[in-house]
Amino acid sequence: MTNDPLIRPAPEQIEERPRAAASRLLLGGPVALVTTMHRGKANVMPVAWHMPVSANPSLVAIAVEQSRYTADLIRHSQEFALNFPTRPLLHHVQYLAALHGDRVDKIEATQLETFGPDHITAPLLSACCAWIECEVVEAFPLGDHVLFVGNVMSVRVDPASFDEQWLLGPEETRPLHYLGTNRYSVLGRALEARIPGPSEAPESVLRDRLAEELELTTDAREKREERLDALKREVEHGRALDITGLELEVSPEQILDLSRGHVIGE
Ligand SMILES: Cc1cc2nc3c(=O)[nH]c(=O)nc-3n(C[C@H](O)[C@H](O)[C@H](O)COP(=O)(O)O)c2cc1C
Repeated sequence: MTNDPLIRPAPEQIEERPRAAASRLLLGGPVALVTTMHRGKANVMPVAWHMPVSANPSLVAIAVEQSRYTADLIRHSQEFALNFPTRPLLHHVQYLAALHGDRVDKIEATQLETFGPDHITAPLLSACCAWIECEVVEAFPLGDHVLFVGNVMSVRVDPASFDEQWLLGPEETRPLHYLGTNRYSVLGRALEARIPGPSEAPESVLRDRLAEELELTTDAREKREERLDALKREVEHGRALDITGLELEVSPEQILDLSRGHVIGE
């Protein structure tokens, strides 16, 4: 315990968790199905521990437990592909994790269709919505996992799911996110954060915005966001906007592109 008056005690509601919870806290990215191939044998394994590690060159890493068949296949072939499943493959993902590639041909067992890769030999899964082909440039054994770093050879996407970002269109086009055990999620709506103005003092602006976010009930927030979305669509069609009753914390111009519409009811 420190006597420094500036360091306050931790908030009361905070609880301690075992160290293993660190990896669960870090979950949240889209689940990937790693496909591999060596000597004519292909395999698929769900992976949640993956991350980008360099932008230029484009490198991504996956942590694979040392004893997995997938780790063997990657060690031998020096390549892997990441296939991103969407909502309809929810049960396939769990099933693929329960099977071991050294005992079962998982692609045959799950009847997943595949198509040809551009740069590697591992097959790609047609039912997914994005694909990254990688050649291994480094492998670091770390604890009970091996971190395989892959040089990205190609990226392909289904534009219904991903443009320059995940689109969050119809639910069946959204990627799956792993929460742990057999629980998954799909992302809800995208939230657009306020972009800081060039010369504004962050303390007061952020304090006000924070207070406002906390004040809004979930219901009120959803209704307000739905109304804003509707307004944005109106603007896109160049129509007049009626913002009566919509409590905006900033001027409409700051959140709506008004070059094609105009506001009434201010
Ligand atoms: C959603 C999900 C994510 C997973 N992520 C990882 C991971 O990142 N690394 C890992 O080693 N195992 C992970 N697993 C466990 C493997 O997918 C599972 O052990 C699989 O059967 C291994 O397949 P293989 O033996 O054919 O290589 C995950 C399981 C699930 C359900």
